Amino acid sequence: MDSDLPLDRQLSPVIDQAAIVVRDLEFRWPSGQAVLQGCSLTLQRGEFCMLLGNNGSGKSTLLKILAGLLTPQQGDWWIQQPVGFVFQNPDHQLVMPTVGADVAFGLVMEQLSLAAIQERVRDALTAINLLDYIGRPIYALSGGQKQRVAIAGAIARHCPVLLLDEPTALLDPDSQIDLVQQVRHLVKERHLSALWVTHRLVELDYCDRAFLLEAGRVVDSGDPQRLKLRLQAGSSTC
Ligand SMILES: Nc1ncnc2c1ncn2[C@@H]1O[C@H](COP(=O)(O)OP(=O)(O)OP(=O)(O)O)[C@@H](O)[C@H]1O
Ligand SMILES: [Mg+2]
Repeated sequence: MDSDLPLDRQLSPVIDQAAIVVRDLEFRWPSGQAVLQGCSLTLQRGEFCMLLGNNGSGKSTLLKILAGLLTPQQGDWWIQQPVGFVFQNPDHQLVMPTVGADVAFGLVMEQLSLAAIQERVRDALTAINLLDYIGRPIYALSGGQKQRVAIAGAIARHCPVLLLDEPTALLDPDSQIDLVQQVRHLVKERHLSALWVTHRLVELDYCDRAFLLEAGRVVDSGDPQRLKLRLQAGSSTC
């Protein structure tokens, strides 16, 4: 790429249709440990994609870079803004005492009227079927409901892209499938895009495409069922 051009101009041929563009990212910790080495992927708008890979392969690191929480040493990346990030453990991101207050909290920087905030909160909670829980204390929610509140926060902020880092890791199998189905529905209904990290191969049944990260780079991508078979066959453990 021509490094004299601003990044959005360099990537402009691809970002018209893209939600995320990652090109040749290199990331290492101050210790010198290399995590991402030539990592590249593109997510089209409207796609629900999953990111697979062994423990320590760099999945969370990549999501943190896309969310602006870490800065790589080299490479180009672009993502539609604002980014919605959903953590593995919702207790790490829900900060207010009730469902409605927590979703509204994400809007404080937007200088909206009270009526507009209430509208956004109600719309977001409706989207994830939790409107009846608007006044419920966060502590009185199940793990799956907490994850949905975290997602509602991103919906209320009108985030076009959701980054979800093992959102089902703490859920039982029924809640896990409920959540993945609901996120798929949300992505398709609202024409969002989502990059979902998982170790649970059953979840691949719900995505459009998948990426396999190994040794800091995407070594395979495409049909989720093919990747599922590849991982089940043990050519790579996940
Ligand atoms: N804050 C940190 N400081 C130093 N090294 C870290 C830090 N966080 C993660 N690492 C290391 O970076 C590498 C990549 O970690 P990362 O969390 O991205 O992996 P992952 O693919 O998300 O793994 P998992 O499937 O276990 O969540 C690992 O070797 C990890 O030990
Ligand atoms: Mg991780």
